[in-house]
Amino acid sequence: MQSVKETVASKVIILDFGSQYTQLIARRIREMNVYAEIIPYFESVDNIRKANPSAIILSGGPSSIYEENSPQISNEIFNLGVPVLGVCYGLCVIVNAFNGKIEGSPFKEFGHAEINVKSKSRLFSNTPPCQTVWMSHGDKVVSMPDGFELTASSANAEFAAIENSSKNIYGIQFHPEVHHSVEGKKILSNFLFEICGLEADWNMKNFLATEMESIRRTVKDGTVLLALSGGVDSSVAAKIIQNAIGDKLYCVFVDNGLLRKDERAQVEKRYRDQMNLNVITVDAADRFLEKLAGVTDPEQKRKIIGREFIEVFMEEAGKVGRFDFFAQGTLYPDVIESVSTKGPSDTIKSHHNRVPEVLKLIESGQVVEPLKELFKDEVRALGIELGMSEELVYRHPFPGPGLAIRVIGEITRERLDILREADDIIVNEIKNAGLYRKLWQVFAIFLPVQSVGVMGDKRTYENVITVRAVESVDAMTADWADLPKDVLRKISNRIINEVKGVNRVVYDISSKPPSTIEWE
Ligand code: XMP
Repeated sequence: MQSVKETVASKVIILDFGSQYTQLIARRIREMNVYAEIIPYFESVDNIRKANPSAIILSGGPSSIYEENSPQISNEIFNLGVPVLGVCYGLCVIVNAFNGKIEGSPFKEFGHAEINVKSKSRLFSNTPPCQTVWMSHGDKVVSMPDGFELTASSANAEFAAIENSSKNIYGIQFHPEVHHSVEGKKILSNFLFEICGLEADWNMKNFLATEMESIRRTVKDGTVLLALSGGVDSSVAAKIIQNAIGDKLYCVFVDNGLLRKDERAQVEKRYRDQMNLNVITVDAADRFLEKLAGVTDPEQKRKIIGREFIEVFMEEAGKVGRFDFFAQGTLYPDVIESVSTKGPSDTIKSHHNRVPEVLKLIESGQVVEPLKELFKDEVRALGIELGMSEELVYRHPFPGPGLAIRVIGEITRERLDILREADDIIVNEIKNAGLYRKLWQVFAIFLPVQSVGVMGDKRTYENVITVRAVESVDAMTADWADLPKDVLRKISNRIINEVKGVNRVVYDISSKPPSTIEWE
């Protein structure tokens, strides 16, 4: 079981039954300054008791409670003396535990629904009697569990909300964590503060103080070697560790030949000169590009880059001499032991933060990951708290495999150079138009497609560049950005006029899902 923060008075444990919305529950709770952690539904009751939660939330999930091998928990959970809120499948778990009945309904409810609050309930306090909620269920409750009363109904779900207020157990059929549930935030807040009496004591200032103390306690007199990518996460991780242990931190920045234009020089300037970090730059471009020559499969590219990175990193570590800890800017969504992330999506893209070499170090207690409990927006808030520049803190995410997964198909130096120039133009024009902070990511993709064009009086047969710009809050879903036409025109004109080897620019108008943000 992951560690639960010991320094906050209030902590919510979310037992995950596999819903796509489980991470959203944690985010909503943390937005209300309460620490929340997701653990799989099969964690033992003993471990949950030891974690000393102030509240437990049972998440939704795709299963039907009566089907074979459906996820079940021990009824002991309800005897811990801790308030429980069950959401969707979590409601079914409660109903099943207290002898109620659930049925598959011919009227499945997906999307918006109206509920009517039937009786005075602290869960619904200060919310209107009729409200819009987000439903996503096939099964529904058909008979009330022992000791519970009905508090809200919808047209297709008579038992949309039930409770046993003396035992502090609440169940709701809808998803309060989804923003389409208009009163969802208020309902969660009622549960946390009115019903559970929690304190809003989770903030970045507290987090920083306790995390620095914890780093000092772990590292003692040891040295730490950190993998610095130049992105927000590893930069914030470097800063926090530097504040905690000073110059016993060494940062290794690997130039893998897959960086953006001028990135290496910028990184060296920023970290060495401005942040005063010990930065070791490794020029490994040739090694990476040789290994990648002729490789077209995206997953293969990722694997090669992941392996090569660890090799280069370990060689450098050997040169530094003794190092006691390895550090990286891993975030919460990367490590979460979530049932919903154990699906096929996990194998679509391999996780570079959890390669076997790192797992071995984790086992021997030699890994420092100060951000592993945070979401991206929390890391940004922490960066600001640490006094880091907004330019760095609000940098768009850049994937570990770098430009390798933005050159579609085979990677060559020439293609990388074309991509770099086009990407630089796009990002600069977006910044000039004041749009950079509005976007989650904006970048170029090189397509190995030759198309016919005409330049001067000459016929050309050259490459295509795709512009990708998306809006998102967490990269789980994303919308293509409706960029102003004049900005797109300027980007296209500049790329075609200034980047040799490109005669066509296209704009990607696909959202995630079903597309993804990256093309590989
Ligand atoms: P997708 O393409 O899956 O991307 O919609 C979601 C977010 O993850 C980033 N991404 C990666 N980051 N290694 C990384 O470190 C990868 O292999 C990788 N693939 C995608 C992507 O840039 C977006 O922010």
